[in-house]
Amino acid sequence: MAKKSVNKVTIVGCGPGSRKYLTGYAIHQISNAEVLIGSRRLLALFPEADAETYVLSNNYKLLITRIASLSKKKKRVVVLVSGDPGFFSYSKLIVDKIGIEKCEVIPGISSVQLAFAKIGRTWNDACFMSLHGRSAKLAAVVKKITDNAKVAVLTDNANNVKLIAKKLLETGIKEKRIFVCENLSLEKERIREFDVSSILKIRVSDLNVIIFLDED
Ligand SMILES: C[S@@+](CC[C@H](N)C(=O)[O-])C[C@H]1O[C@@H](n2cnc3c(N)ncnc32)[C@H](O)[C@@H]1O
Repeated sequence: MAKKSVNKVTIVGCGPGSRKYLTGYAIHQISNAEVLIGSRRLLALFPEADAETYVLSNNYKLLITRIASLSKKKKRVVVLVSGDPGFFSYSKLIVDKIGIEKCEVIPGISSVQLAFAKIGRTWNDACFMSLHGRSAKLAAVVKKITDNAKVAVLTDNANNVKLIAKKLLETGIKEKRIFVCENLSLEKERIREFDVSSILKIRVSDLNVIIFLDED
């Protein structure tokens, strides 16, 4: 009898967070999952899913080993990641660990794509960096913003736009337009524009994309 092949682990880019931005193929693969893995926020998008679920938080390294062993048991494993899996994503750790030949990666709409759409600018000429979970990158992010006319930065609660603005001012950079794009596609979505010094006074939600522009 032919040996049943191992199921590929499906990594699904779930877009910025609202179901309306999911692709039809993503929904199809999620509805066929036997095991569904993702953050609480992403799992909550699929209350109808009839699958064993694992919540992804700071257990992400441990979960990779679990993902690899579940797929060897021929389970249909689907991992939900935010935005696009090719953009600062947990997807990379999974693919590096178990190999692309054992994965199927389904693209999603990135938070930066939606941010650029919202402010009506192109992103083909932009640079990208992430400070999400990486305070060590602050100096590199500031240099990138200083040296380039269009830069999008992913930030988080701790590594936030105020830290960047403070460093920019210390470096003598005052003339950037800054777009703060919060909770994209979600209920509390908000797109605001500031200059470098006024950013220091505002409150920003944890989930945000910041776009720095040299424009009059
Ligand atoms: C681990 S990264 C994942 C990025 C994702 N792969 C993408 O393509 O958008 C998480 C960061 O993405 C950004 N992000 C994700 N969803 C967002 C949303 N709905 N609104 C604003 N920013 C979002 C935030 O900067 C967050 O800290």
